[in-house]
Amino acid sequence: MRYTVTAALIYANGPIHIGHLAGCYIPADIFVRYLRSKGQDVAFISGTDEHGVPITIKAKKEGITPQEVVDKYYSIIKQSFEDFGISFDIYSRTTNPVHHETSQEFFRTMYDKGYFDEIATEQYFDETANQFLADRYIVGECPVCHNDGAYGDQCEKCGSSLSPTELINPRSTISGSKPVMKETKNWYLPLDKMQPQIEKYVNSHTEWKTNVFGQCQSWLKQGLQPRAMTRDLDWGVKVPVEGAEGKVLYVWFDAPIGYISMTKEWAEKAGKNWEDYWKNPDTKLINFIGKDNIVFHCIIFPAMCMAEGSYILADNVPANEFMNLENDKISTSRNWAVWLHEYLEEFPGKQDVLRYVLTANAPETKDNDFTWKDFQTKNNSELVGIYGNFVNRTVVLTQKYFEGKVPEKGSLETVDTDTLKALAELPAQIAGSLQHYKFREALAGMMEVARLGNKYLADTEPWKVWKENPERVATILNIATQITATLAIVSEPFLPFTAKKIYTQLSSSRWALAGDSPVWADAGQASLVPAGTEVLQDGLLFEKIEDAAIEAQVQKLLNSKKLNELEGKTVPALKPVIQFDDFARMDIRIGTILEAEPMKKSKKLLKFLVDDGFEKRTILSGIAEHFSPEEMVGRQVTFIANLAPRAMMGVESQGMILMAEDKDGSLSLIQPHKEVWSGATVN
Ligand code: MF3
Ligand code: ZN
Repeated sequence: MRYTVTAALIYANGPIHIGHLAGCYIPADIFVRYLRSKGQDVAFISGTDEHGVPITIKAKKEGITPQEVVDKYYSIIKQSFEDFGISFDIYSRTTNPVHHETSQEFFRTMYDKGYFDEIATEQYFDETANQFLADRYIVGECPVCHNDGAYGDQCEKCGSSLSPTELINPRSTISGSKPVMKETKNWYLPLDKMQPQIEKYVNSHTEWKTNVFGQCQSWLKQGLQPRAMTRDLDWGVKVPVEGAEGKVLYVWFDAPIGYISMTKEWAEKAGKNWEDYWKNPDTKLINFIGKDNIVFHCIIFPAMCMAEGSYILADNVPANEFMNLENDKISTSRNWAVWLHEYLEEFPGKQDVLRYVLTANAPETKDNDFTWKDFQTKNNSELVGIYGNFVNRTVVLTQKYFEGKVPEKGSLETVDTDTLKALAELPAQIAGSLQHYKFREALAGMMEVARLGNKYLADTEPWKVWKENPERVATILNIATQITATLAIVSEPFLPFTAKKIYTQLSSSRWALAGDSPVWADAGQASLVPAGTEVLQDGLLFEKIEDAAIEAQVQKLLNSKKLNELEGKTVPALKPVIQFDDFARMDIRIGTILEAEPMKKSKKLLKFLVDDGFEKRTILSGIAEHFSPEEMVGRQVTFIANLAPRAMMGVESQGMILMAEDKDGSLSLIQPHKEVWSGATVN
């Protein structure tokens, strides 16, 4: 079977974080590694999306050109994927000439077939910036969920796809000004007319994941609308027809064609025929994406391909939902994210730990949450406690008893045959999960192999048997090594770095040859590693992660949350105007605190005895979280002296102490700049 597997072309406008890995790239990589180990013909294609408004906005923000933006982030992104073992056959870019040619040709074919409607419409125009406001150049209130930060093409809160004219109270993101309407001509894909064909295609794929199929149905139910495939912008692929000066292809038109142009680039270098991967109806096209890309991959790109006429359509689009971080949506602008390059600096060599945790928690059917605490638990109790523990015990015992050479099996007992039988069944079970894009389930199956190994050692207790029956121990360690080898094969899609370490440990010539390319069909076999194979100890596979490392990560997130809150804060709006009389009715005075004590059963309240010059009065104040009673005694404070008394928790408060609230929420006393007599009035 031949497969073309793609992973979304991420915008080259920033580094990548765990949400990207979890949503799209890890599942794609697991799937591809599995296919390769089955000996399938696979092209694994991805790269960066380097056009569109997200790029030009970033350029403006950083004060550099769009080309500089994409050059910078292309390298950073490519490096991160390499570091995490995402095994693309090619990782390319949509600014390459072959991509411009391919997408122009695609457009031209559709144009020549008369597929586009040329329509003049009024579009929003920013007069200050002298520019039409497409897509993310315009924000406003979403007409569906009323989120105020919706973009001109999409609301990220509710996922609705929008056109700029649907936004309530639209504003230009370039100048902040209110845009005006201006006429312009663009080329539209009449999705409304194509609806029957698209419906037929989608409905022929009831096997798609329910989140994907469901989103498609809701689109189709709403009724598809014509959609402009060109934009009045200067950054992008030039529209290849006459009368289109100053216009480029809509980024969502050219980006998915990137999968095709990148396949061309790869095929050229690899000596393959790219058309086998895009024009042969027997080839399976699988698009891995995140959920915000569903409509583009399940409706718009297939519609484009139907219109163009010569390309295959996706066989499956296994989109994931979103990964949240510590109970909050991952956000680049709020720096609420775990950046891959930073992770690697802080946890060097622990790529597989992150791959494991992100797969175990993959947001396959609903949004899911990544927490550092869970990361630690999964590492310490599963990877160290189960997986690492089993492999390590097998290696150490083989060294201890057999000088590091895999011993011969003798005659088998029931526990041996039962274990080998269970071992033989697991790879097929894991493969079944993988074929259905159930990566969490598949990962759990992989762990079953390690659990089986641990149980086998616990049941047979070779360390107790050694003295009276070394032959029995030979059999046990031979079988434990066979389990280890199967574990390596079935782990490779999930934990490629770890699998490779195990191959190195089992360094017979056969395994050395297998190297990076394990053979799935070998998994589960009872005599995979020949007796006599040398077992090398190469350090532990996994190490415990201590509390301090986790606390540091949590603290880092809290710091960025704090910074953001402060940055976002503005001085509160003014209250309505009052007259002098309103003010004059307030009796504001200076008093001195004589006594201070906490209020029982209250976290917030402190109770003060205040010298007000003529009597002493009790005032309660909700500042216990900011001040200790001791530090308040002796201080002068400003208070409202004629506020009607109010009982709180059984004590009457006769006034109110005034405080200034700082940007970070901390409180400051209002004090006279030199000491004054108690009871002084404030006017
Ligand atoms: N650049 C888009 C994003 O980051 C994804 C494009 S996927 C492709 O959301 F199909 F268009 F390539
Ligand atoms: Zn919305």
